[in-house]
Amino acid sequence: MEDRHSNEPPESMANPWTEESYDERYRAHGSLWSGKPNPVLLSETADLAPGSVLDAGSGEGADAIWLASRGWQVTAVDFSSVALERAAVRARENAPTLGQRITRLHRDLTSWQPSKVDYDLVCAQFLQLAAAQRAVVFGSLAAAVAPGGMLLIVGHDASDRALGVHRPSRPEVYFTADAIAAQLLEPGAWEVSVSGPRERTVTSADGQTIVVHDEILRAHRRH
Ligand SMILES: C[S@@+](CC[C@H](N)C(=O)[O-])C[C@H]1O[C@@H](n2cnc3c(N)ncnc32)[C@H](O)[C@@H]1O
Repeated sequence: MEDRHSNEPPESMANPWTEESYDERYRAHGSLWSGKPNPVLLSETADLAPGSVLDAGSGEGADAIWLASRGWQVTAVDFSSVALERAAVRARENAPTLGQRITRLHRDLTSWQPSKVDYDLVCAQFLQLAAAQRAVVFGSLAAAVAPGGMLLIVGHDASDRALGVHRPSRPEVYFTADAIAAQLLEPGAWEVSVSGPRERTVTSADGQTIVVHDEILRAHRRH
């Protein structure tokens, strides 16, 4: 995900990470994100046969649309109704049939428990949560992966904050893949294939090439 606009909610908001604040940010822009699927999703799922996927914090739907176009049956969850509606419009614009492969759910992930717990893939790209919420939400997402299925969690590395690119200023939303794996994935039950930061090149608003880092956790459930 690269943002077209600042990632940072207005300072005036009492709690900038609520459903209402996200709705407000989405409404303020025709497009908040780039409209392109996340590169890490493309690279880390390229070798998977399509099946069922849960996209947590699906935003404007670029990842969900890409997955559906590859044959995945997608459940896209977000608590912003503005983002979900935008995602629905974009899916229809891309191809009328794609929408049939995407189920959109308007849910707050901090309180929602997936009723289906056998997804072939569960992914969360740049879902920014405070630490206590993160453990609960990522724990539920891990529990929703089927035996043999894959969990993919991607976040901005905290080192990006020094680069001058738009990143959340709140330190609590940053995590390391290693910490998530140690906290949530029982070693005998999971095979971790990627855990750590990885470079990615982006172009800044003023045209400069900048190397940023994503924290990536990719793990398969053994049983
Ligand atoms: C930074 S955006 C990333 C969107 C998309 N995954 C992407 O990479 O383009 C984070 C998304 O997570 C959603 N989100 C944040 N907290 C959430 C929560 N507690 N429950 C559901 N959605 C949430 C926001 O509404 C927003 O659409």
